[in-house]
Amino acid sequence: MSKLYAISGVTGMTGNELVRQILVDGSTDHILGFDNFYASSIETVSDHIDDDRFEFFEYDVCNKEQMADFESRVNAIKGSYDEIIYINCAAVVHTEHFYHVYETFDTNVMGMKEFMEQAIRVGADKYINCSTSEVYSMNSWNENGGVKESDYLTMSVAEHSQRTSYATGKLLTEFFIKDAVDEGKIKGCSIRFANVYSKDERYPKHIIPFIINSFRDNGKVVLLENSRKNRRTFLNNYDSCSAVLALAGTDSALDGTVYNVATDEEISIIDLAKLCASKMGITDPVIEFNGYRESDPERRLLSTEKIRTRTSWKPAVDLSRGLDECIENYLKL
Ligand SMILES: NC(=O)c1ccc[n+]([C@@H]2O[C@H](COP(=O)([O-])OP(=O)(O)OC[C@H]3O[C@@H](n4cnc5c(N)ncnc54)[C@H](O)[C@@H]3O)[C@@H](O)[C@H]2O)c1
Repeated sequence: MSKLYAISGVTGMTGNELVRQILVDGSTDHILGFDNFYASSIETVSDHIDDDRFEFFEYDVCNKEQMADFESRVNAIKGSYDEIIYINCAAVVHTEHFYHVYETFDTNVMGMKEFMEQAIRVGADKYINCSTSEVYSMNSWNENGGVKESDYLTMSVAEHSQRTSYATGKLLTEFFIKDAVDEGKIKGCSIRFANVYSKDERYPKHIIPFIINSFRDNGKVVLLENSRKNRRTFLNNYDSCSAVLALAGTDSALDGTVYNVATDEEISIIDLAKLCASKMGITDPVIEFNGYRESDPERRLLSTEKIRTRTSWKPAVDLSRGLDECIENYLKL
């Protein structure tokens, strides 16, 4: 069975790993992907850019003409494939952009909705919506194995920080896909990822590259005051992508609802810094604190029982191995 994938934000951290996992040797699948390079570059897919099974377009999900062209390209070849799967990875994401209310609305909300409507128009079978664990906002953990998809939310609001506009927009997209599935227009689901990282990531503000690059360049790391208490789990992008594909391959799971995708390997940010330092051969790391982020939950721990029950997905890369790969790759530069 050959599948045609349409992927937005394809050169981003999730998108480029999807390309690698879909286009394994011998696969007859095909990918049409686009990105506007808001937070990535063509380098991330350089290993597949000459692959006939991958067609890339420098397009913006908010640009109507570009999206019309993309749609006509899907229509032109869709007859050769047994299944059409849309995956929406394009987003204004990353900590510093969370505060950009209008950009997050245009790309994350309107872009998601229009890409979903395109999927329905071309007769796609499935639409996978990347949402975020940020929607858990101030209730991001509990002592019973982590927050569940069905838990009620306590969100910080504009009284506290503009940061939650990112989560609020993503939350709305979960309603769009639920409505489309309930109306029988397409199969699909939303995924709430928690803190994805990648050995190929170059984004300096993400905590793992930030810590490693700081130790490498300055011999010390300066963390936010929040880091004195904060604990997080970290999901390798190999595992975030294998979850996308596990869900896309399990029709019974595509009921319009939401899936948490995370690990349960929780670590404090201070211990993360110490672990990175020890892996880099630094015995007495200098860790300083400066700055404070409003509305930043102290813990974020997600229950992944739902995806583990409904699909065969489980994370394959533990934090120690993931960090080893990051350190090896970042230090090569
Ligand atoms: N990275 C994380 O920790 C994390 C956590 C939870 C959810 N997510 C979600 O997962 C999805 C993928 O994120 P990622 O980690 O790959 O982030 P990323 O920033 O690496 O990838 C997003 C891609 O979208 C592109 N993009 C932004 N605006 C665009 C536009 N208008 N048109 C076309 N492309 C555009 C960017 O250039 C980038 O390549 C996003 O929906 C994100 O919200 C990520």
